[in-house]
Amino acid sequence: MPDVSFEHLIDHYKNKIQQGIKGDIRAEISKYHILNHTSLDQVKNLRIADLGAGLGDFSLWFESLGHQVFYNDISPAMVHNASLCFGKDSSIEILSGPFQQLNLIDLDVIHIQAVLEWLEDPEAGFNCAINMLKPGGTLVLSFFNLESLIVKNLFKGNYYKVDSGQFGGDGKGLTPINPLDKKSVLTWIQKNNLNIINMAGLRSFVDYVNPTVPVKERLLDIVRLEKELSGREPYISMARYIQVICVKPE
Ligand SMILES: C[S@@+](CC[C@H](N)C(=O)[O-])C[C@H]1O[C@@H](n2cnc3c(N)ncnc32)[C@H](O)[C@@H]1O
Repeated sequence: MPDVSFEHLIDHYKNKIQQGIKGDIRAEISKYHILNHTSLDQVKNLRIADLGAGLGDFSLWFESLGHQVFYNDISPAMVHNASLCFGKDSSIEILSGPFQQLNLIDLDVIHIQAVLEWLEDPEAGFNCAINMLKPGGTLVLSFFNLESLIVKNLFKGNYYKVDSGQFGGDGKGLTPINPLDKKSVLTWIQKNNLNIINMAGLRSFVDYVNPTVPVKERLLDIVRLEKELSGREPYISMARYIQVICVKPE
């Protein structure tokens, strides 16, 4: 199956994930770790590419921190929506099309969140992304964690689904075609001699809470605990997304 453009999924994505509580929690925990483990709020004018950036909210955030940002997405509808959000005064450079075909090199930072799992060949996408980094540059990668799908199916009683070992979606809905397992991603990181600076779980438990828990009312407590637990096991390994921050060798 080819890489999944979100052209047909944009409204579903906006409503269900990106602009809902789950998207907010993911963004908050992700930014918390980015600020704690990179120099993004200490230096200015870093060259940052946000690959498969969707509606562009992280691109906007990087720009607000004073950096030179390249926004990319394969979906024309995403690109259109993002450019409306950026507005006329923004200096974000918009690069549409598959990120694997971009001509970017020597970047200080690559941000690639929730994208590799939508690619036909996630490892090739990973290699392509790090080739755009300068030596000493930082990769901020967040990926959809296969293990979380297994846990969720176990909790739902979908035992035959778990037996089947088939968890990838069909490209028509919001289940990624290639949910990733942490071990494989760590192997790709190792193969490329990247140094891991931090690993975190983005949404370690909120996706599993009992339906009786009033998530909106308990949001402050949930975010506080998600933050507190996000840096340690087993919470990293069971999170819906895993974020790895690593540095390319000099
Ligand atoms: C799940 S969304 C994530 C969007 C954003 N990064 C976020 O975290 O909210 C995946 C995005 O990757 C885009 N995408 C898929 N394959 C791509 C490719 N080869 N190059 C660039 N973008 C791609 C999709 O169009 C979609 O907008």
